[in-house]
Amino acid sequence: MSGPALRKVDSHTAIHEAALQEAAELTNVLHNLLLEGDKERALETAYILVEHWETRTLAHADAEEAGLYQEIAGDSPELRDRIVALTRDHELLRQLLKDAKDKLDGEGAGAEALRRFQALILVDELHNKEEMDVLPDH
Ligand SMILES: [Fe+2]
Ligand SMILES: [Fe+2]
Repeated sequence: MSGPALRKVDSHTAIHEAALQEAAELTNVLHNLLLEGDKERALETAYILVEHWETRTLAHADAEEAGLYQEIAGDSPELRDRIVALTRDHELLRQLLKDAKDKLDGEGAGAEALRRFQALILVDELHNKEEMDVLPDH
């Protein structure tokens, strides 16, 4: 997932939306399992959610930092500060996911892990909006 697909607003947005929709659905399932008190299935779902964030959004972020972001910053020096800010957003996503995993490993699936998965969605939504605002200027 790199190159032309990330350079075009439409295809890049489609990648974001597919990943976020899946994350939202899984987070919803997790929330419902916690409300039902089904700790075991909640934990299973939470680890699927961890894998989802790692293999989709965070792998996407790694690819952007290795390619697209460097190209934009190289071609358009006036956008460098915004690229630094976008990279910081990725760092927050990585940190939130690490915290979620630590909670799962430590105390199992519960409200604390859920809060982090919900925060991941909100931070990613804001991040994607800014990213798509930077991309067409390039
Ligand atoms: Fe990104
Ligand atoms: Fe992106």
